[in-house]
Amino acid sequence: MTTFGTPLSPHATKVMLLGSGELGKEVLIALQRLGVETIAVDRYENAPGQQVAHHSRTITMSDPAQLKALIEAEKPHLVVPEIEAIATPMLEELEAAGTVRVIPTARAARLTMDREGIRVLAAETLGLPTSPYQFCNSLEELQAAIDAGIGYPCIVKPVMSSSGKGQSKIDGPDDVKKAWDYAMAGGRVSHGRVIVEGFIDFDYEITQLTVRAVGADGQIETHFCDPIGHVQVSGDYVESWQPHPMHPAALEKSRQIAKAVTDNLGGQGLFGVELFVKGQDVWFSEVSPRPHDTGLVTLCTQNQSEFELHARAILGLPVDTSLRNPGASAVIYGGVEAVGIVFDGVDEALRVPNTDLRLFGKPESFTKRRMGVALARAQDVDTARDNAKLAASKVKPRKA
Ligand SMILES: Nc1ncnc2c1ncn2[C@@H]1O[C@H](COP(=O)(O)OP(=O)(O)OP(=O)(O)O)[C@@H](O)[C@H]1O
Ligand SMILES: [Mg+2]
Repeated sequence: MTTFGTPLSPHATKVMLLGSGELGKEVLIALQRLGVETIAVDRYENAPGQQVAHHSRTITMSDPAQLKALIEAEKPHLVVPEIEAIATPMLEELEAAGTVRVIPTARAARLTMDREGIRVLAAETLGLPTSPYQFCNSLEELQAAIDAGIGYPCIVKPVMSSSGKGQSKIDGPDDVKKAWDYAMAGGRVSHGRVIVEGFIDFDYEITQLTVRAVGADGQIETHFCDPIGHVQVSGDYVESWQPHPMHPAALEKSRQIAKAVTDNLGGQGLFGVELFVKGQDVWFSEVSPRPHDTGLVTLCTQNQSEFELHARAILGLPVDTSLRNPGASAVIYGGVEAVGIVFDGVDEALRVPNTDLRLFGKPESFTKRRMGVALARAQDVDTARDNAKLAASKVKPRKA
C-alpha cells in the first residue's frame, strides 16, 4: 500500500525536479494533481516548471557542491532529473548514501548524460544493433575513424550535447574539418570529444515510450506506448505523431530493444527509446530515462500522457499506456530574440478543429528556441498532422 502525505505539511510526499523546462512543467502538473509537494529546480529564474510548483530553486545543477547542498536542505523523497547536464556522480553518491532516491536510478542518469556511456552499454554490453561508431578526440582521429571504416556519409556529434547542438552530417572529405569545428563550438562542456556515426538510411524513426512501473504483486512490469513517429530538422524535433504504423516484426524488435535497455537501466519511470527503422531492421539510437520531447503528442493521444505515466510510475502507482485517439504535435519556435515576447493568433490557432496548445512561458525567446507546441487529435494521423501544423502556424510570436 502506498500512503501519500499532504503537501506543505510535515508528512508531505516531496519530489524535486532537476530541470524545469516544458517537459518538467507537465510532470510537475501531474504530480501536483496527485497531491505531491513539488520543488522545481532550474539554472534560471521563472523556468516553465517553476511557475507551477510549490517551491522553486535556482542553482547550477552541474556543480556537485550546489546540488548536494540543495538536496540535503530540501530532503525530497525523490529526485527526478529532467535534463542531462547534471552532476550525476554526486547523485550516485547521494543515492548510495541513502540520502535520496534518484529516478529512474543515478546510474541511468550518468550513463545517458553523455553519448559514450549509453552507446557503449547498448552496443558493447547489450549487443544491440546501432550505427557503426567511433569516439574521437581530435580532427586527426576523426579523419582516421572515417577512413578506417565509418565512411561517408556520417554524422558527428559532441559526446555532451542534446537537441542537435554541434551535430552535423559529413558527405565527403571536404566537410570533415567544418563538422569538427562545429562540434567543438556546440558541445555542452568544452572538452573536445565527439562520436562519429555511420549514417543510417532509415525509412523512418520512432520513439518507443517504455514504462517501468510496479504491478499489483509488487514486481516491476514493463509497459509500451504506441510508437511515435517524428521529423527532426538539424537534430531537433519539429513534428511528431502517434501511432506510427509499423510492420509487426519491426515493432516486435523495437520493443525487445527497448526492454533490454530499460531493464539494464532499471528503476521506475518512463523512458523514451529512440530507434531507426528500415523495412524489418531496427537500430537503437539513444534513450532518455525520462519523458521525451516527441512524446508531447501524448498530451492529446493517450489516456495517460507520458508525463502522467512518469509521475505515476515513480510514485509506485499503476499505469495505463493505452492510446485514446490518433494525434500529432507541431513545435512553435520563438522566431525572435527577445525577453517577454507576446503571441498573436492564439484564438485563430484554437479555431482549428480538435486542437490544443501549450505555451511554455519561457521568459526569453531565441529564434530556434521551442516556446510552445500545437496538439491535434483526429480520426487519422494525416489529418492530425495537417491540423497541428496549421494551428502552430497561426501562433505568431513577436517582440512586445
Ligand atoms: N547515425 C545516424 N544516421 C542517420 N540519422 C541520424 C543518425 N544519428 C542521428 N541522426 C538524426 O539526427 C537526429 C538527432 O540525433 P540524436 O538523437 O543523436 O541527437 P540529440 O542531439 O540527442 O537530439 P535530441 O536531444 O533532440 O534527441 C536523429 O533523431 C536522427 O534524425
Ligand atoms: Mg535524440
